[in-house]
Amino acid sequence: MSGRTDAGNTTTGGLRGGRIVGWGTALPDQVLSNADLEANLDTTDAWITERTGIKERRYGGTTAGLAAEAGRKAIESAGVDPASIDLLILCTTSPDRNLPASASTVQAALGLDCGAFDLNAACSGFVYGLAAANGYIAMGSKRILLIGAETLDKMTDPEDRGTAILFGNGGGAVVIDAVPEGDPVQLLGWDVGSDGDAEHILYAELGGYMQMDGREVFRKAVRVMVQSANTAMERAGVTAKDIALVVPHQANIRIIDSACDKLGFDREQTALVLQSTGNTSAASIPLALSEALDQGRVRDGDLVLLVGFGAGMTWASAVLRWSEAGPVEIGAAP
Ligand code: ACO
Repeated sequence: MSGRTDAGNTTTGGLRGGRIVGWGTALPDQVLSNADLEANLDTTDAWITERTGIKERRYGGTTAGLAAEAGRKAIESAGVDPASIDLLILCTTSPDRNLPASASTVQAALGLDCGAFDLNAACSGFVYGLAAANGYIAMGSKRILLIGAETLDKMTDPEDRGTAILFGNGGGAVVIDAVPEGDPVQLLGWDVGSDGDAEHILYAELGGYMQMDGREVFRKAVRVMVQSANTAMERAGVTAKDIALVVPHQANIRIIDSACDKLGFDREQTALVLQSTGNTSAASIPLALSEALDQGRVRDGDLVLLVGFGAGMTWASAVLRWSEAGPVEIGAAP
């Protein structure tokens, strides 16, 4: 399933789209460095750094707690009234409980009065969520809080050096407003996909630890990132030369370098936080996007490419035309 909008048009096939008007992040306090891992596992800082690019990751917290903190900051950064949020989507593969959805816990913590649900597409979750949010806006939602948050420490076997070096906890959130009539939409093209036949290369049974065939994930990840990014760019009617910033899923620097090289992007065009966060699954793209925005790396009119991949196997990409137009006065949108 995939879709497109026409670059610069005000509609998505005759429907409204959204634009990001605020963002925020959350990381738990406990830092697990490569040196900490060296002390307990047959591994070294040099091996982890060279093979993954990761220096440290964060442990602790709850998924709902990190999501609420990131969500609160995103609402503050947008400068909007929490009462105006009409939908909360929490992208996570590590909810706190089977029931209820962690999104409902976040909704209560933030005092929101709106629909709330979890979305699980593993590390591709945030980009799936972005597409879903634009779909809700096309059906009439006016302001959506979209969050990616994870506590992967509880799904990571501390004695497995193949996975313990990679994963961490965190959260990132954005507020998305329905664009008013006449304003350009932000989501120019998107692509989501899944290949359930590859589920055996990365999975966790309920209550169990992640099991991963790292080499196979690596191989497939590069391929699906390139395919999905190209599909989203094609649907947006743009090429790699038009893209100002790439925000890839933060899994492994070598996966990112290899995919970006094939797509024709420089390392300088890429948003990277994995050195200090590790792989935070659905939180990784909003964490990297937020840092790039805070650093002023994205300007009005720039094209931003988000590319995710993960367990499933799933993948998802989106091309955004960045807008600094700011929040919409609720009631002004059609
Ligand atoms: N420290 C030291 N040596 C190690 C470690 C370690 N932590 N892990 C593996 N090794 C050893 C292996 O035993 C092997 O030794 P051998 O040659 O004597 O057999 C050697 O290092 C090479 O092992 P590989 O598995 O080939 O190492 P590779 O370069 O592939 O790196 C890694 C492993 C980092 C896991 C890599 O394959 C990877 O990043 N894969 C993708 C993982 C990923 O992105 N997962 C998340 C997907 S997103 C989601 O949905 C959660």
